[in-house]
This record gives sequence, C-alpha cells and structure tokens, in this order.
Amino acid sequence: MVVRILLLGSGAREHAILSALLAENAGHEVTVAPGNAGIAGEAETISLDPENPKLVADFAADNGIELVIIGPEAPLVAGVADAVRKRRIPVFGPSKAAAQLESSKAFAKRVMDAAGVPTGRAANAATMDEVVAALDAFGAPYVVKADGLAAGKGVLVTPDRAAALAHAEHYLQVGPVLVEEFLDGHEVSLFLLADGSSVVPLAPAQDFKRVGDGDTGPNTGGMGAYSPLPWLPDGFVQEVVSSVALPVIRQLAEEGTPFGGLLYCGLILTAQGVRVIEFNARFGDPETQVVLPRLRTPLSGLLLAAATGSLAEQPPLEFSDDVCVTVVLASEGYPADPKTGRRISGIEAAAAVPGVTILHAATARKDNQLLATGGRVLSVVARAPDFAEARARAYRALTEIRLDGSHFRTDIAAQAAE
Ligand code: AMP
Ligand code: GLY
Repeated sequence: MVVRILLLGSGAREHAILSALLAENAGHEVTVAPGNAGIAGEAETISLDPENPKLVADFAADNGIELVIIGPEAPLVAGVADAVRKRRIPVFGPSKAAAQLESSKAFAKRVMDAAGVPTGRAANAATMDEVVAALDAFGAPYVVKADGLAAGKGVLVTPDRAAALAHAEHYLQVGPVLVEEFLDGHEVSLFLLADGSSVVPLAPAQDFKRVGDGDTGPNTGGMGAYSPLPWLPDGFVQEVVSSVALPVIRQLAEEGTPFGGLLYCGLILTAQGVRVIEFNARFGDPETQVVLPRLRTPLSGLLLAAATGSLAEQPPLEFSDDVCVTVVLASEGYPADPKTGRRISGIEAAAAVPGVTILHAATARKDNQLLATGGRVLSVVARAPDFAEARARAYRALTEIRLDGSHFRTDIAAQAAE
C-alpha cells in the first residue's frame, strides 16, 4: 500500500527512518520537514517549522498526508501530535501529556512508582541543602540530573562530590534537580512501538554516550551504536515488555494520557536485575540507525498500526541475522562547542564500501559544497554477517571522509566483536 507520509525532523534518526521507508520499495510519497542535505537527495524536503502544531496540522490536512511521523522530542513537547490527531490524521508520536515521560524526569519517576516498574532510587531536590542530603544518602558515584530536556547534557555521573554539587547548583537556577542512586551494569536501549494499549518490541541496541574511547569525557547525544546485543540473557526482551513497558503503558492509559508512538526504554542490567534509567518518547539516535536496517517487516505498516491502535493485529516482527554498527562523525569541539560551517568531502568513496550507508545528521549544501552545520555531522552505518566485519567496514569508510578537526570513537562495538 502506498502511503503519503510527512516525516518531521532533520537528523540521522530521520535519515534512517526515511531509508527504511524507501527500502520497502512500495512507492511511498515521503515529504520531510525540514530534513538535511542527505535527506534532500532522497526525498522532497520543505522548510516547514516542525515544532509549530498549527502549521504541521494544516500542511498535513491540505496535502492529503495519511501518516505523520514525528522524529525528535521537541515537536512532541510542543503538542504537534495533538494538533494532527485533532484533524483525524494518523500520527506516530505521543501527545504532549504522554511525552512528559521524556520531558519531565519527575513525571517519569512518578509513573514508574505507580506502575511498580524497577528503577533506581531518586530524590527530587529544590535547594542545595536537599541536594547535599540526597548525595549523602545515596553515596558515590553521584548521579545528578536536570529535570527537563537537556539534550543529554543535563546528566552528570561522577565520583567527584564537588563536581556533583556544582552541576546541581547550575541547574537549580532553572528548576529542581534529581539526585539518583548510581546503577552499575551494561546499558541497553530497547524501543517498543505502542498504540495506547499494546506494545511491540524492536531489537535491542547499545548506545555509546561518552565522547571518548573507553567511555571517557562528557556525555553526548550518542557517538555510536550496535545491534543485536549478543551478550543479553535469554528472555530479556520479554522481561522488559512485561515488567517495564506494559505496566507503564497501562498506567498512562489509566491516567487518561494514553501513549501512542515509540516508547524508548533506557535500561541498565544490574546484578539485581534490569532497571530503568530513563524513558524517551521517540526513536533514539543513533540506535535507530542500527535497529531499522535489520528490520525486515515494512516499517510504514507498523507505524500506521501504532498510530491507529491496531498493533495487536500485527504479525510477529522479523529481523535480519546481519549485525549493524554505526559510528558518528562529530565536529571539532563537540559536545561543548562544535565548530560548524566546515567542508565535508569523501562521502561517495565512503558509501562505496560494501555494506556501508552514510546517514546525514547536521549537513547542508551551499554553492554545491557539503558543509557541517552542527555537532554530530553524519554517521557511517555498516551491515555485515558479524561484528568484526561490520566494524572493519565502518572504519574503512571513515578513512575516506574529510572534515577538518572532526573526531569519532574508535571502539564502537569492539567488545561485541571479541
Ligand atoms: P539519561 O539522560 O537519564 O539517560 O542519562 C544519560 C546517561 O547517564 C545514561 O545513559 C547513563 O550512562 C548515565 N546514567 C544516568 N542515570 C544513571 C544512574 N542512575 N546510574 C548510572 N548511570 C546513569
Ligand atoms: N541515544 C540517546 C537518545 O536518543 O536519547
């Protein structure tokens, strides 16, 4: 079935979603707002503001759009899904109220408590005295989080008490902070499609959040990812469905804020069992880049089913046995202060490496030159029968790409390849 789709967003996540839609070869008509230089090479792009609910809903209604897919969190928080749903147009993405699962860590903690979902202990602190008390109660290493959206930068995990106090003091200027118990273990990102009452899990992935090799340096939006996770215990996905995802979806439905869209479970596998560290209300980036290429079931049908409440009728999902690795190329200075406007070259040679796809994140074309316009510039995604080969392909492709001052991690999926 051909679907007229409006896809909102401009990053590598949206490029990955677009690639999956086009790979169906179903003749979908996809418009992306606003997209980037890579997306513009594969689909129609328009300069519509994706965070303006009225403009998006008007565009969808006026252009016979049959499915709106919301990539990033900002349009969700702005109420874009609500505005589109009001026009009776299917939309993949939760309401503003349900998206608080991502936009407010305090909201997420409350829902988890009410639903009995396993998570770390946490204290909400509005003053420095409360911060100090909570740091003392949980002990080192310290975990301090800003409450609202902070693009991954609001979280500090540190053994350094003075640094934890300084981070709390900084974010207390804008609102309360959350002090959490430190959870020790492997991190897993699990995405689930949700339609308000049912959930369907995708394949688990691992994200590399720190900027430097060996998990050093500051947190970023994510510097690489791989899927599947060969070290996961049997039954892991089913356990997350029954102990995390379904209880949360039922709790939100009971509260009158049903969640339809992508439930992103950020998890830590501790010695005591699986614990939630955070929820997001949209596909994760870069994990989406390694999950969707392995999905054999047509994506458009799944997103439409989530948008229309018919996930329970979907046949089981199929995933390829191939593995997938993505490595993010970042601008000089990312994440603190990325230098932008520099020229990128060598993309064609990189894309010619077998099994490799280049996804654009922050790129623009000017005077026929490709320029980097942000921190995470592009991703090299490699598919292969095993991790050693996928890594070899990704890193070979990276040697072809030139961007002055750019950097990437060299250890993405290295442990999985051993
Ligand atoms: P968040 O934005 O909540 O996902 O936090 C960003 C990153 O900080 C996570 O991916 C973890 O690597 C780390 N982190 C967050 N909370 C904790 C915690 N309670 N214990 C250990 N690490 C954490
Ligand atoms: N990769 C982390 C995120 O999308 O939030």
